[in-house]
Amino acid sequence: MRTKLNYGLVGGGLDAFIGTVHRIGADFDRIAKLTAGCFSSREEKNRACREFYELDESRVYSSYEEMAEKESRREDGIDFVTIAAPNKIHYKVAKTFLEHGIHVYCEKPLCFEVAEAEELKKIAEEKGLLFGVNYSYSGNNMVKEARELILSGHIGEVIDVNAEYLQEWLIDDIGAGDQTMNKLSVWRKDPGVAGISNCVGDIGTHIENTVAYMTGLKVKRVAAKLDYFGQPLDLNANILVEFDNGAHGVFCSSQVCVGHMNGLVVRIFGTKGAIEWQQENPNILYVTLKGQATQIYNRGMAYVSARSAELNRIPSGHPEGLFAAFANMYKVWTGAVLKKVNGEELSGYDYDFPSIDAGIEGVKFVHACVESSQKDATWVEL
Ligand SMILES: NC(=O)c1ccc[n+]([C@@H]2O[C@H](COP(=O)([O-])OP(=O)(O)OC[C@H]3O[C@@H](n4cnc5c(N)ncnc54)[C@H](O)[C@@H]3O)[C@@H](O)[C@H]2O)c1
Repeated sequence: MRTKLNYGLVGGGLDAFIGTVHRIGADFDRIAKLTAGCFSSREEKNRACREFYELDESRVYSSYEEMAEKESRREDGIDFVTIAAPNKIHYKVAKTFLEHGIHVYCEKPLCFEVAEAEELKKIAEEKGLLFGVNYSYSGNNMVKEARELILSGHIGEVIDVNAEYLQEWLIDDIGAGDQTMNKLSVWRKDPGVAGISNCVGDIGTHIENTVAYMTGLKVKRVAAKLDYFGQPLDLNANILVEFDNGAHGVFCSSQVCVGHMNGLVVRIFGTKGAIEWQQENPNILYVTLKGQATQIYNRGMAYVSARSAELNRIPSGHPEGLFAAFANMYKVWTGAVLKKVNGEELSGYDYDFPSIDAGIEGVKFVHACVESSQKDATWVEL
């Protein structure tokens, strides 16, 4: 029986944003070891990664195609690949690794087109491979607690959702501000690399997924207005949504809201109460039952659900944040891959990672928002 896994990284060079968080998150529980990579399309960046990660020279590749080919032929080849490169190459990289029989864990948004996303699902199913999409906020302990409470009926039937993800970091794109600080924004603003949306694709999809994860509801249709402020892609979006249970909600996604950094806030309203979670204060959950004072649930306390307790890492009061959320994503994901490579059946919480279906919903959501906005905010089905 295997107890450890090998994994490879595509993207995630030393100067990259999220690849580093993946590596640290995956390392928390020491189940998956980084053993191979194609960290950059540039030779010198790849070499720097090899040294930093202390990898075998033969396992740092100049292209992801070569990596998939060679790793799939090795006895000790990688069990899964994490894709932490810009959106443009997600589909091609994921398809290549799936075709070589390697499980895939891909960053969001999954890919550009719905047909591509569905094709990836088909290949994964045909090959019996797992496919995870890194909607990382669902790894937060108190997001899991919110899901447990909502799905158990604690706040009754969901009747309304009010959620936002507000950032200010692209405010200088409006007008002639100083854009030198915005290294991260370079590819995000390029439709050829980011896809048909910047703001909705980058952070609106996090709202969509976090709400879906907490409530179990799917967005059925949207009426959206995206603001471009003269840029090729959107910087701000106000989205009216309708869920599959008939409830409505509002999603606000913005990169130009001064004073906000990573302000993902999700408020779920039910017939018996309400739940609120804030990404910048992630260790607590506000729970209000009708007619009662608001309760503050703290991560790690005796009253939280068994699921939340199981994924707790340090005592309450010591803040857990983004790295711990990624660690939980990897704990669940690597647990599932381990069962798969050992030929065991998966069930229940083994599947508590965002699946390819969640990735497909995200791609549909982006397309529906862009189309709705082009049609002056008329309703568009996903
Ligand atoms: N889940 C989250 O919370 C979260 C947060 C940030 C970014 N993301 C997603 O992660 C992805 C990467 O975003 P980022 O901010 O880290 O970008 P980044 O620009 O900081 O890093 C991208 C990395 O990919 C590498 N790369 C580019 N082309 C490559 C190729 N052909 N082969 C191998 N490597 C290549 C670059 O060298 C770089 O190291 C995006 O899809 C983004 O949407 C997700």
